[in-house]
Amino acid sequence: MNVEGRHFRTIWTEGDGEGEVLRIIDQTALPHEFRIIDLHSVDEVCRSIREMWVRGAGLIGATAAWGVWLAAREAAHLSAEEFSVRMAMSMEALRVTRPTASNLVWALQRQQKAIAGLFGAAAVDAAHAEAQAIADEDADFCRRIGEHGRAVIEAIAARKPGQTVNILTHCNAGWLAFVDYGSALSPVYAAFDAGIPVHVWVDETRPRNQGASLTAWELGQHGVPHSLIADNVGGHLMQHGMVDMVITGADRVTLCGDAANKIGTYLKALAAADNAVPFYVALPSSTFDFSLRNGVLEIPIEERSAEEVRVMSGSLLNENGQTAGTASVRICPEFTPARNWAFDVTPARLITGLITERGVCEASEESVLSLYPEQK
Ligand code: MRU
Repeated sequence: MNVEGRHFRTIWTEGDGEGEVLRIIDQTALPHEFRIIDLHSVDEVCRSIREMWVRGAGLIGATAAWGVWLAAREAAHLSAEEFSVRMAMSMEALRVTRPTASNLVWALQRQQKAIAGLFGAAAVDAAHAEAQAIADEDADFCRRIGEHGRAVIEAIAARKPGQTVNILTHCNAGWLAFVDYGSALSPVYAAFDAGIPVHVWVDETRPRNQGASLTAWELGQHGVPHSLIADNVGGHLMQHGMVDMVITGADRVTLCGDAANKIGTYLKALAAADNAVPFYVALPSSTFDFSLRNGVLEIPIEERSAEEVRVMSGSLLNENGQTAGTASVRICPEFTPARNWAFDVTPARLITGLITERGVCEASEESVLSLYPEQK
């Protein structure tokens, strides 16, 4: 998508041969600064995922895939046996960076297959080709999600001619969470580009504020009308007919359609059900975990540092209200203990539909399998 009119993906390489470098947008600097950084080693890739310089299910998967390429390049001088031991260690280091999003393990499994039986330059080339394929596929699938989701928004728009369609979203499942386009926001961009009047309610999404810092920034860059709201406002808006639909992304979705997404999503789904507001979850197939059925019991939920709850960061303002750098502030007493679960699970019964690259289906095993019959 575009930043100041110039197209960017969230991860890419530049140069060739030994000089080829891996580049990412540092998402911890947004919205205050648009900063591109280079990742030189698999250790740096692990750190970038763990510390959320990159985040979002699709982008975590693509970054891990490129991390395997860097790991292979670092190990290219080793014998076949040493290479395979080193690669197993690197893949494990990547695997444990974050536990919830399916895309991470999915991308590593693809890379494992791609380099199976190879070492040295052949393995490096194979890992490079597979990482590029994963990134390109991610962008293509998200573009298709946009087309299928646009039809859903169009149908709602047709029921209120001349009026704006109000869409509520939680966290950031835009292009910053993938390689390009996004999942939840891709239909919004497609509808906006097609001339459908849309407006997005952007949940700030405590504690890391991905809505306030990333979704608001993305939508602003694309010119999509939006309003930032505090996390607890959604229920009130739904009671007053001010939300036509909810679209969120997902980090892992079971075969039966239970969806793990950023903490707080479940409460939005409950409010939507109580007010008959359609609640959609958008995801590419790489986010399905077809091996699971019960999301609440089986999806691992990441617990992150309590400091993310206790400390907030943002722009520092001078006495004239102008930005004067960034700052972190503690928002609670110095020794208040905190807990920080990063995701929750919305049960399938609260989900109106899943918007995938293959079309829209119900959140049920039968309907998911009708789109993905090869998983039977
Ligand atoms: O912790 P994050 O920022 O990596 O969380 C992921 C998310 O942004 C959301 O849960 C998102 O809606 C799904 S990721 C496409």
